[in-house]
Amino acid sequence: MSSAVIICERGMFAVERIPIHLDFDTGIDDALALICALLCQDQIDILSISAVAGNVPLEHTARNTQNILAALGERIPVVRGAEKPLARPLHCAVSHGKTGLGDVKLPQAQQAYAESTVEDAIYVSACKAEGELIYLGVGPQTNLALALKKYPQLNRKVKRVVLMGGALVGGNMTQASEFNAYVDPEALQLVFRSGIPITMVGLDVTLQTKLPQWVAEALQELSNPYAKLAAQIIDFALRRSREYGFDAANVHDALAFCAVVFPQVLETHPYYVEVETQGELTRGMTVADFRGVCSEKAPNADCAVKVDIDNFWNWFVSLFRREEARLPKA
Ligand code: RIB
Ligand code: CA
Repeated sequence: MSSAVIICERGMFAVERIPIHLDFDTGIDDALALICALLCQDQIDILSISAVAGNVPLEHTARNTQNILAALGERIPVVRGAEKPLARPLHCAVSHGKTGLGDVKLPQAQQAYAESTVEDAIYVSACKAEGELIYLGVGPQTNLALALKKYPQLNRKVKRVVLMGGALVGGNMTQASEFNAYVDPEALQLVFRSGIPITMVGLDVTLQTKLPQWVAEALQELSNPYAKLAAQIIDFALRRSREYGFDAANVHDALAFCAVVFPQVLETHPYYVEVETQGELTRGMTVADFRGVCSEKAPNADCAVKVDIDNFWNWFVSLFRREEARLPKA
C-alpha cells in the first residue's frame, strides 16, 4: 500500500492511498473520469489501467486511453483488454463519434501498450494491493469477467467493484437496460454473482449529471492541461447532445469515479441484483429485489439511489481549480 504525505497546519501526516485498477471503454465520459482520476493521485494509487471494447471498438478505446495519458504526461501503460463481449457480437454507441473522442484530436502516444493480458494485469494488481484493491469499471464488464474466469480466487482479493452500469429503473439502450449492461450482460451477471462487494452507479443517478453551462465555462477559464483537455471534451459533448437532440450531456463515468474518492456524494441502498441474459425485451436488465422476496438471497450490491448533484459538480470543478493553483506563478 502506498501513501501520500499530507501537509497542513496540523503538520505532516501520511494517508493510505486507495489502490485502484481503472477499466474504461474510452469514450467521452470515460475520458473525463480518467482525467479526474489523474487529478486525484493524492487519494488513489493507480496500479493498472485497462481498455475494453464498448462505446467504440478496442483499437479506439485503448488508443484514446493511451493518448489521454500521454497528453497529460502520465506513463502508466494501458492494458488492451477484450475486443468483444463474452458471448455476443460487439454493439457500439454512436454518440461518442467514430473514434470515441468526438472531434477532439490528440497526438499519437509513443508509449507501448502493456504486454500483460488483462486477466493477469488485474490479478497482479489485486495481489499487490493485498486485498485492498478497488476495481473501477465504467464500460462493459468483460475484462473483469475474464479475470474472474481465469482467477476465481480474485473474488477474495478485490475489496470492492465500483461500476457504472445498469439501473434500478429503466434503460438508455433499451427501455429495460443500460448500455454497458446491454453490451455484455453475461459479464455483468458474472460480476454480480462473484461475491465481490459492489457499488452499482446506475442510470438512476448518472442521468442527473447533466453538464451545466457554468461547469463548461469554469474549465474554459483555466489554463492547466487537464482543464484544457476536459474543456475540449465537454465542448464536443455539449455540441453532440444538441446535434443529436439529446436533452443533455451526461458524465456517467465521472460520477462513478467520484464514488470512489468522495462516496458521500451518493446515497446507496443494498439490493440483491441479478442480470437478465435470456430476455428479448430485457437483455441486460439489472433486476433488483426491492421487496426482499428472494429471502434466501442476501443483497449483493450497494445501489446508488440518490446523488448530491451540486456537491458532485463542485467536486468536479474543484479538481481542475486545484490543479490550476499548482501551476507556477507567472
Ligand atoms: O450508459 C452509459 C455508459 O455507457 C457510460 O459508461 C458510457 O461511457 C457508455 O460506456
Ligand atoms: Ca464508459
